[in-house]
Formats: sequence, C-alpha cells, structure tokens
Amino acid sequence: MPKTSRDVISTKDFSREFYENLFQETDRIVRGLKKNRILRYGKGSILATIFLEPSTRTRLSFHYAMTKIGGEVVDFGLAEAASIAKGETLEDTVRMVDGYGPSVVAIRTPVPGSAKVAADVCAAPVINAGDGQNEHPTQAMLDLYTIQKVRGRIDGLRIGLMGDLAHSRTTSSLSYALDRFDDVTVFYIAPSELQVRPEITQSLKHVRVERAESYETVIRDLDFLYATRLQKERFSDPSEYDRLKGSYKLDRSSLSKYEKVPYIMHPLPRVDELNKDVDDLPIAKYFEQAKNGMYVRAALLKRVLAG
Ligand code: NCD
Repeated sequence: MPKTSRDVISTKDFSREFYENLFQETDRIVRGLKKNRILRYGKGSILATIFLEPSTRTRLSFHYAMTKIGGEVVDFGLAEAASIAKGETLEDTVRMVDGYGPSVVAIRTPVPGSAKVAADVCAAPVINAGDGQNEHPTQAMLDLYTIQKVRGRIDGLRIGLMGDLAHSRTTSSLSYALDRFDDVTVFYIAPSELQVRPEITQSLKHVRVERAESYETVIRDLDFLYATRLQKERFSDPSEYDRLKGSYKLDRSSLSKYEKVPYIMHPLPRVDELNKDVDDLPIAKYFEQAKNGMYVRAALLKRVLAG
C-alpha cells in the first residue's frame, strides 16, 4: 500500500464507509477497554507526537489512546525548547524524528498545509493533529462519532456550526466529513467578519449550506449546535479580536427561552462563548466529545498501524 494512503491529513480524503468502519472499530475498542485495562494492537509500536502549538485534549488523548492499545509514545516536548526555536525547518525536524523509527507520527503546527509537507518527507504515516486554521481531521472524526452516538445517525441531520468559522479548523474538517453523508444541512452561524471561508463551502458537494448571523434565528431548526471559541492566536489585529469578543454566547437562561433546544457541542477549550451553567443540562455533549476522542484516536491508530 502506498504510504500516502495511511496518512490522515484531511477529512476530504475519506469516504463514508471509512468513517462507518472507524466508528464500529471505536465501539469495539470501548468494549475491549471495559474488559482489559490495556489492549495489544499497538504492542511494539511507537507514536511520535510533535505539537508545535498549545494542546491539552488532542495531545493527551493521543498519548492515552496509544498507551491503551499497548503502544509507546515519544513526545517531542515544547517547541520553544527544541531546535525549531533556533530556526530549524519543519521538514528537517520531521526527517530527524522519522529517522529514529516511529511507527506513526501525530503533528500539530500553526501553519496551514504543513501536515501534508511533513507527510511528504516522513516514511512513517503522519496524522494531522491540527495545521493552523486549515484542518483538524481527528477532531472531526470524534465529533461525527459523538453525533452518531447521540442521535443514532448522521443522515438527515441539521447542524449549526457557530463562532469563529473564519479561523477554525475543527469546523472545516467537520464540514468536509459531513459532506460524505446524505441530506445533511449545515448552518454556518457567525457575524459576517467571522463567516465560513469560501474555500470550504465551495468544496462541499452534498451538504445543504445555510448562513445566519446569530443562532437565535435558526436554533429551532437544529439537531446540534456546535460552538467554537474566537481563535485569538489567529488574529493579526488584536483590536479586531477585542471588538468581536462576546459577539456570540450560549448560556442557560438564553437557551431556556426555547421549547426545543439542540444538543450543544464544542471542541474545547471554551473561553466565554459557552457558559458553564450549560454543563449540567442533558443537551451538553462536549465532555462526552472529549472522552470519545481517546477511543476514536485509539481506533484510528489501530487502523493506521495495521497499514
Ligand atoms: C481545537 C483546536 O485545536 O483547533 N481544540 C481541540 O483540538 N480540541 C479548538 C480550539 O482550539 O479552539
């Protein structure tokens, strides 16, 4: 099998069948881990993690996932402490790590397109753990898995993506993945400055696209409302960030105005767009997403390692 087909760079590269198989595999891993503390699919394999941007959930859940399937993890450590801070290029860094012989590499960088660049110079399969504002495919996989678990299907659903859609990589990857399913409507909900990038909607072939300035006008139509934070680190002008801060917000009292409310999702971390008073409501699914992330990544690692 050519190595490129084992890389996980974009959700555009995968079919509906792939996602469905991945979710079945995830269910098997969930059941397996209930019985055994550690599984064996990863035995003798090493995951190298290179995170050149802050991360809590993604990095940790990759580490747990590999450990739970019996593999080992070698983490690159902080970018500031490595030669990258001395001006070493990403390609050189990845070549060097690859030379030590990892079985798979998970990489996060602030530069759009760099996961593909890394994959091109790396003999081991590369998993994109977020490349700037471009994509975050494993987040989309756990988002889809959560939607499937909560509603039992993905076809026919109406999903609102709200927040900083201009700079968010989770919503682009999720859009491409949803495009593989039937009769899905995506509502892009954001003030005009933060609306979805045209390159994303232009590449969607099946999803019905709607746009709204705020959730109030469409919330009654939604099965899920997926909120994202303002991506502060991607604003070149800090005053623009300050101006848009607080321009969208979910809390218990505003949600209580509606008879029927959608399930609420969020990739986390949240800042002030999602109040913690929503956490106890049964519609809050974001901690479930985070938990599912470990199982979905374990299933994905198993698959990538099997070649
Ligand atoms: C997201 C990311 O890194 O893009 N976080 C995550 O992986 N769960 C979302 C974000 O940072 O806002």
